[in-house]
Amino acid sequence: MKTPKESLTVMTDLVLPSETNPLNNLFGGELLARMDRAASITARRHSNQLVVTASVNHVSFGRTVPLGSIVTVEAKVSRAFKTSMEIYIDVWVNDSLVGQRKKANEGIYTFVAVNQDGRPVEVPQLQPETEEEKDRYASALRRKQLSLILAKKMHPMDATELKALFLKD
Ligand SMILES: CC(C)(COP(=O)(O)OP(=O)(O)OC[C@H]1O[C@@H](n2cnc3c(N)ncnc32)[C@H](O)[C@@H]1OP(=O)(O)O)[C@@H](O)C(=O)NCCC(=O)NCCS
Repeated sequence: MKTPKESLTVMTDLVLPSETNPLNNLFGGELLARMDRAASITARRHSNQLVVTASVNHVSFGRTVPLGSIVTVEAKVSRAFKTSMEIYIDVWVNDSLVGQRKKANEGIYTFVAVNQDGRPVEVPQLQPETEEEKDRYASALRRKQLSLILAKKMHPMDATELKALFLKD
């Protein structure tokens, strides 16, 4: 059993001209790569195994990130299943001129721990501590079921927790 803070990964970097779109804001694919990198480090720290990205479950680009910004990507395990881990990534932008930190984006990725042959191996379970960690832990099973349905790896009728959101007894 491990806590989320044991594998927390925080990566801070600038937005350079080669990483921006024609409006001089951070290019979405560049941010996705930074999120994937931070999340994969978190998944490796939690599992002490090699890991692969199994799915990008959700990404929202809520705020543009201008050229020159200081961007901090924070990745934490939100739930561990048998061989897979959901990693929640929060992206913050610092305006160094006024010293403010604002939430810019967030993403949720699924990683699977694998052996040298690329076969899934078991991971330690997660013990959430803060209220936010407990909320994210509780909703992770629904997101896993949705991701598996979209990947055609689960039948919607078997997604009990997800169905419970929409159906009352
Ligand atoms: C991810 C991968 C290892 C899963 O292998 P698999 O043969 O489907 O293995 P399984 O069906 O046993 O699934 C393993 C775990 O992944 C989970 N999983 C698989 N696909 C998933 C998806 N789309 N969304 C969420 N979870 C998924 C399963 O639920 C299972 O989790 P659990 O053991 O915690 O319950 C395999 O598909 C793979 O290697 N994919 C390529 C990964 C890669 O190269 N990523 C980089 C992208 S370029």
